[in-house]
Amino acid sequence: MRGGVLMRKIIVIAIIAAFLAITIYSVFVADGRGQALYNQHCSACHARGIAGAPIFGDKDAWASRIVKGMDVLYASALNGLNGMPPKGGKMEASDDEIKIAVDYMVSQSSR
Ligand code: HEC
Repeated sequence: MRGGVLMRKIIVIAIIAAFLAITIYSVFVADGRGQALYNQHCSACHARGIAGAPIFGDKDAWASRIVKGMDVLYASALNGLNGMPPKGGKMEASDDEIKIAVDYMVSQSSR
C-alpha cells in the first residue's frame, strides 16, 4: 500500500500549507497594515504616552481601556478623545485602517 502512504503524506502537507497561508495572511497582511500605520503615525503619542496617551504594550494602562469593548475604542480613535484628535490626526486614513491600527495596538497591549 505504498500509494496510500504517499497520498496521506500529500494530504498532511496540503493541510500544513493551508494553515501556514492563513497564519502568514493574518500576521503579515492584516497585522502588518495595522503595525505600519501605528509606526508611521500613532506611535508619535502612544510610544511614550504624550498628552496622557496609553503607552503601547503597557498592559496595565490598556486593561481599563480594553474592558470598554472594541467598539468604544474604535469610536474613540475615529472621533478623538481628549488629547487625541479624530483619527489621531491622520484624517486621510480610512475608518478601516484606523480600526486595524487599534486592533494591532490592543493585540500587543493585552494580557
Ligand atoms: C496627538 C497624540 C495622539 C496620536 C497621534 C494618537 N493618539 Fe490615541 N490617544 C491619545 C491620548 C492622549 C489618548 C488618551 C485619551 C484619554 O483617555 O483622555 C489616546 C487614547 C487612545 C485609545 C484608547 C481610547 C479609549 O477609549 O480609551 C485608542 C484605542 C487610541 N488612542 C488609538 C489610536 C490610534 C489607532 C492612533 C493612530 C491612528 C492614535 N491613537 C494616535 C493621543 C494620541
